[in-house]
Amino acid sequence: MLEKNIKKITDGVYPFHMPGHKRQKEWLDGLVNFDITEITGADDLHAPSGIIKDAQIRAAKLFGTVSTIFLSGGSTAGILSGISAVTKRGDGIIIARNCHKSVYNACLINGLKVTYLYPSFKARLGAYCEVSPSDVDLAMKQSGAKTVVITSPTYEGVVSDIKTIAKTVHKNSGILIVDSAHGAHLGLSDYFPKSARALGADIVIESAHKTLPCLTGAAMLHVCSHRVSYAELQSALGIYETSSPPYPILCSLDRAVTKIAAEDLFTPYKKRLEAFYTAAKDLKHLYLFESADFDKGKLVICTERANITGFELKRILLEKYKIETEMAMPNYTLAMTSLADTSDGFNRLISALSEIDSNLSGKDKAALFAPPEAETVYSLNADGEKQFFKTADCKNCISGEFIYAYPPGSPILAPGERISPEVLEYLNYLYSGGAHILSSLGNYPEYVAVLKENS
Ligand SMILES: Cc1ncc(COP(=O)(O)O)c(C=O)c1O
Repeated sequence: MLEKNIKKITDGVYPFHMPGHKRQKEWLDGLVNFDITEITGADDLHAPSGIIKDAQIRAAKLFGTVSTIFLSGGSTAGILSGISAVTKRGDGIIIARNCHKSVYNACLINGLKVTYLYPSFKARLGAYCEVSPSDVDLAMKQSGAKTVVITSPTYEGVVSDIKTIAKTVHKNSGILIVDSAHGAHLGLSDYFPKSARALGADIVIESAHKTLPCLTGAAMLHVCSHRVSYAELQSALGIYETSSPPYPILCSLDRAVTKIAAEDLFTPYKKRLEAFYTAAKDLKHLYLFESADFDKGKLVICTERANITGFELKRILLEKYKIETEMAMPNYTLAMTSLADTSDGFNRLISALSEIDSNLSGKDKAALFAPPEAETVYSLNADGEKQFFKTADCKNCISGEFIYAYPPGSPILAPGERISPEVLEYLNYLYSGGAHILSSLGNYPEYVAVLKENS
């Protein structure tokens, strides 16, 4: 039985990963009792005028938005709907290359012409970071596209200068959508960076289930300006969201909103994080990533100066210390926190890291790889005949599918892009290091779907 299997996996294991309720009863108890449907007195998810509308108004007040729409299909539903609502088939769109696969899928579904923005890449961390406002300006001027989609904060907690980017986008008569799937807690405490909601973005999409104490699937689409048509949004949501209101998820969101509005839950959370960052300063080989404007709720434990990889650290934390982290990459292990994390949890993590650290030694030279920019040969949505090639035989062919590491779920290769030797080397570097590489059609690393050239 699934329940029995989940119990086996989670028993005694501390969750430094999403969902942000961290399995705490306070956030979960009783939700199942509210699993009703559109009975008399209940509301319509797609045209809310009663109890769902009231809850959404409470959320809009807390988050300071023009309006907030509850989602049960995660940020994925919000991203698909938001992009569909502000574009017309065949329009141009500018997206950051590190966007989640749902952004790429929205472009595919709507037949959009994509221009990529390449965020800065921090080689020591091994992750894309900020998008530059001047790159946004240039891309808008060169492509003429009016919709810009970026990710801020990133999975690792790095935020872009949304205020300047929003001004740039609006100066070019465009619309800015910010995928803040990882930022639902921003703006709720001055310990965290300001939220894109308050910095001029037009649409901000947040996965409440990732960093707030909510059930998986709970997310929000925030309308933050009057440049966006609410009717177009609702119409798109009618396509991408279930037609049956999943009340346990909606109640979970409303419970978090109501409690956060009524109680100061962020000061104790901030204190726990501060204590953790202070204690982590004693680590000799491992260290916590930080940058100027950074979400400290993400504990990015860097391994690049130590004789251990992020994947190995993740495995040891689980096997020896029963601590499950969110994800790993060659140079870091990422522990996700929320206000539901306990002092015991943080103490357990720092004790484990201290012990592991004391058995490590330094590394002279870390392998620093950056994802190579792939050449776009055909547009993302070019239709073409596909063939399946063994990975070893697909060098310089054109990809017929998305290939990405999951998590984080942003494509390393998109359909229509050249599979250069450098891209293959990068994929192999991640795969052999322990990353979970997924492909949308083939079966990486066995087979890759390639497009027949000129097909
Ligand atoms: C940056 C980013 N955007 C969007 C999503 C999709 O969020 P959800 O799982 O809530 O659909 C994710 C999921 O991990 C993500 O990392």
